[in-house]
Amino acid sequence: MENFNNEELKTHLKILQELGFEEIILDKEYLPSEEILKEKKKMLDLINKEIQVCTKCDLHKSRTQAVLGDGNLNAKLMFIGEAPGEEEDKQGKPFVGRAGKLLNKLIQKAGHKREEFYIANICKCRPPGNRTPTLEEMETCFPYLKKQIEIINPSVLCLLGATAGMAFLGRKVKITKERGEVIKWQDKILLLTYHPAYVLRNPKEEETLFNDIKRAIEVAYTGL
Ligand code: URA
Repeated sequence: MENFNNEELKTHLKILQELGFEEIILDKEYLPSEEILKEKKKMLDLINKEIQVCTKCDLHKSRTQAVLGDGNLNAKLMFIGEAPGEEEDKQGKPFVGRAGKLLNKLIQKAGHKREEFYIANICKCRPPGNRTPTLEEMETCFPYLKKQIEIINPSVLCLLGATAGMAFLGRKVKITKERGEVIKWQDKILLLTYHPAYVLRNPKEEETLFNDIKRAIEVAYTGL
């Protein structure tokens, strides 16, 4: 790209305006990374404002607050769960309850920190009594997650549990059979694994979840 000083840039933009251009979409690569982060934060704040007043499904009726996501806005890997639980609904952050503590522990065991990654859910509001979200609730909320993925632009999505798998694949997922699978989804890599809450109920599966998380991190940082 050519370099202009401010005055030259103004003149150049004026000419483009006179030629009928109404907006210029800057290739993100030309923005310094602090600018990218600011821009991403701005866009996510807008989604957050939208979900806090969202009434597209009945889950809004019982929520304390909607929970957008948490973590590194430039993450290469995004962990995606099902929906906020009681603690998440209170604190406004995903995976801060018992399942979250296990997730943090396994990320640390793999030599990394939760803060390196981005964590979100399929549904942004807590289903009453922590029931599984309905297909309709997931479909209604999925566009918010899609926007988040577009903004953060990770290369790998680690789907925690059958519900997250189903939201992406559009079919029932038998997680005990399908976990560990690597699937192409748009320009991303999906990696299916157990939900940490399932592992809390089935502690002998902890090693498997750990290996899947480690693999997801490796794929995100070094490729397949
Ligand atoms: N379970 C989820 O699926 N998501 C959370 O944020 C917490 C528990």
